[in-house]
Amino acid sequence: MAEPVLLRNVGVPDSHKIEVYMQRGGYQALRKALKEFQPAGLVDLVKRSGLRGRGGAGFPAGVKWSFLPKGVYPRYLVCNADEGEPGTFKDRVLIEHDPHGLIEGIIISCYACEVNTAFIYIRGEYEFGARRLEQAVQEAYEHGFLGKNILGSGFNLDLIVHRGAGAYICGEETGLLTSLEGDRGHPKLKPPFPASEGLYRKPTVINNVETLFNVPFIVERGAEWYTSMGTEKSPGIKLFCISGHVNKPGVYELPLATPLRTLIYDYAGGPLEGKPIKAIIPGGSSTPMITPEHLDVPLDYESLAAIGTMLGSGAVIVIGEGTCIVRTVERLAEFYRHESCGKCIPCREGTDWLYKILHRIEHGAGREEDLPLLLDICNNIGGKSFCPLGDAALGPVRSSIAHFRDEYLQHIREKRCPFQD
Ligand SMILES: Cc1cc2nc3c(=O)[nH]c(=O)nc-3n(C[C@H](O)[C@H](O)[C@H](O)COP(=O)(O)O)c2cc1C
Repeated sequence: MAEPVLLRNVGVPDSHKIEVYMQRGGYQALRKALKEFQPAGLVDLVKRSGLRGRGGAGFPAGVKWSFLPKGVYPRYLVCNADEGEPGTFKDRVLIEHDPHGLIEGIIISCYACEVNTAFIYIRGEYEFGARRLEQAVQEAYEHGFLGKNILGSGFNLDLIVHRGAGAYICGEETGLLTSLEGDRGHPKLKPPFPASEGLYRKPTVINNVETLFNVPFIVERGAEWYTSMGTEKSPGIKLFCISGHVNKPGVYELPLATPLRTLIYDYAGGPLEGKPIKAIIPGGSSTPMITPEHLDVPLDYESLAAIGTMLGSGAVIVIGEGTCIVRTVERLAEFYRHESCGKCIPCREGTDWLYKILHRIEHGAGREEDLPLLLDICNNIGGKSFCPLGDAALGPVRSSIAHFRDEYLQHIREKRCPFQD
């Protein structure tokens, strides 16, 4: 892509300061939104743009906003900046380099949803990002973009930055809200969905950082501009964070449906040390891994679903030859076991068992029955856990057994990891 849109301010000196942001056209979309649109018109615009949630599930943002029950106030908007999925670091770049872009997106989205109090829930580890956001929020108040009667429009908005304490489950929307309310971050049963009963049991919109960041550009350039990129069902632009065995890991902005090969070879500099690619995790650690035969898959929601995986948060992890898949999956299982909140038994017990069995296979104590046992445990977590964290833990396990069964068997038969000296 020639001209970056979402990343346009990244690399510009002092891009986090309001003066620089405004010199580069910042807060013009807000002026336009307040002057030219009624809230319902903005919801319609975002609906027509087809913008889908960038937090993982890909639900259309404008449709979510239209679920807010009519006439029920106060309503809240919460920006999900928890960014806990391993491999995902795109929101961090936006927060640290372009905090005003996010704030402008939040203000416009709040105006559209008739919200007067909004929160940014940022993961505890993002201390620098939280400080950048707090400074930027203060600047926005000082310039009249937040607070009472914003730009003389009569619209009021308060924005509060809230730091989490470093739990993956607090990225799940109901866990996030529970944590924001001051309780332990445990998920809640849905329905009711947050749009009808969320924070403080009031209607609440929850959107990912990148989702909200897109909104000012859609206001400025129109829904047709957005739908001119990507595919009919997956329109627009997406940030991809690529890591693992590539020469230039980082965050790249591409139209949806760009082939995976283009991202890896043209943007990320190709595989590290020229080693062949063994597997790719395409959308964050919870998404099933794929093999290099799918290098030409278009990176959009439907194309990845068609090959049994997901676009997720757009976090592509490239795994080169010479890497032990069992060790990789054991490490991921350790993460999910640690992050399982313990509320429900299938996830709490199941993720622990997955880790223990993978650990014994990797360390030479595996048994042939362990592969069917792992899959049986997966079946007892999948669709049976209280929230999707349980399902998230299964992607790497199931897909690695499907694609690398022989490597598991080699560990078991040789009673050692063949990749260790
Ligand atoms: C275990 C788990 C962790 C999640 N972590 C995040 C996260 O860190 N950031 C995020 O935006 N969404 C995360 N989500 C998705 C949110 O629940 C929710 O779908 C999202 O914030 C909605 O915003 P969007 O529609 O703009 O994507 C997570 C979901 C689950 C099940």
